[in-house]
Amino acid sequence: MTGPILVTGAGGVGKTTVSAALGVAAAQAGYQTLVLTVDPAKRLATALGLDELHNTPTANKTLPTLWAAMLDSEASWDQIARSHAPPDAADRLVNSEFFHAITRHFPASQSYAAAEAMAQYLDERRWDVIIVDTPPASGGIEFFTAPTELTNLVGGRLFRWLTGGAIPGRRELFNVAARPALRIVDIALGSDLLERVGAFLFDLRTTYDGLRTRSQEIEKYFRKSTTIVVTTSDPAPVTEAARFFKELPQVARPPAAVVFNRTLPTAWEKAEIPANTTRPLARNLALWAREARRQETVRDEFAARYRTKIVSIGWQPTAPTDLESLAALIDETGLLTDLID
Ligand SMILES: Nc1ncnc2c1ncn2[C@@H]1O[C@H](COP(=O)(O)OP(=O)(O)OP(=O)(O)O)[C@@H](O)[C@H]1O
Ligand SMILES: [Mg+2]
Repeated sequence: MTGPILVTGAGGVGKTTVSAALGVAAAQAGYQTLVLTVDPAKRLATALGLDELHNTPTANKTLPTLWAAMLDSEASWDQIARSHAPPDAADRLVNSEFFHAITRHFPASQSYAAAEAMAQYLDERRWDVIIVDTPPASGGIEFFTAPTELTNLVGGRLFRWLTGGAIPGRRELFNVAARPALRIVDIALGSDLLERVGAFLFDLRTTYDGLRTRSQEIEKYFRKSTTIVVTTSDPAPVTEAARFFKELPQVARPPAAVVFNRTLPTAWEKAEIPANTTRPLARNLALWAREARRQETVRDEFAARYRTKIVSIGWQPTAPTDLESLAALIDETGLLTDLID
């Protein structure tokens, strides 16, 4: 295995579906494949073999080379605290309301948890192919910059100021005298809120060294990764897709391919309208023909501008949520052979 396949793109374009489809196609080709997925629709989760909330890899009963795991960022954060903080600080962190607030609401936090889970499974070297469906919150380059952002947050200027001077050594961490700013504010407010925040920040700061080292490892995996950008032919996701070509080369290789999902068949562009067709139907066919032409123009312009491989996945009459229809999405595109040599 060379590196993970990261499936990214704007919200709602089909990242989870394309990740699952690539996973099924790779597993059917005989590769031990792991799909790390985020919040799949119920029927899709069932097809992948994830009937309950599995955040550990589970083999598919119908297709045993296909493994899947749900990315559960809350559970990942408990694990992150335990692997980077001393045991007593980790205990306090996982029970801390502030810790839960940060891990739930800091934008990079869901992305970091997903990236950390990805790195953990890559470290295990049990799979030939690992496909990562990126969380909706990171609908862009944010997934790749989350490790640095989070390390900067934990080791950042505000934290340093609150917890006193440079990053303290373990022995000095609980030195109350190092927190005069907090104590003064506490006296003024007559509460222990800031005192508790301060204690929490001290605990969080103990994760800094581990987090920094781990972030560097994750970034190494990013540099080895293959990115697939999923989009529809609508302007907003296409703009988002274009961003990857400008920004991704700073942190990883440029996207290997762009998947235009839910496209209309090119055959519709020249739909012949029989003479006896009713006017509303004729109008309808003409509108769809125009939309199919517009979509093709969008794809052609994107390919010419970014000199990238473009793959189209057709708009299916029903949501592709079983192994057969998922595999069919990828089979026609030839994408798998491009990604896996
Ligand atoms: N080619 C397709 N044809 C028909 N329906 C599709 C196709 N691809 C995806 N869908 C449907 O579109 C919806 C959104 O897809 P999906 O959940 O994969 O998007 P997503 O990018 O992962 O969304 P989010 O950003 O919310 O995670 C789902 O209902 C899915 O079944
Ligand atoms: Mg999704």
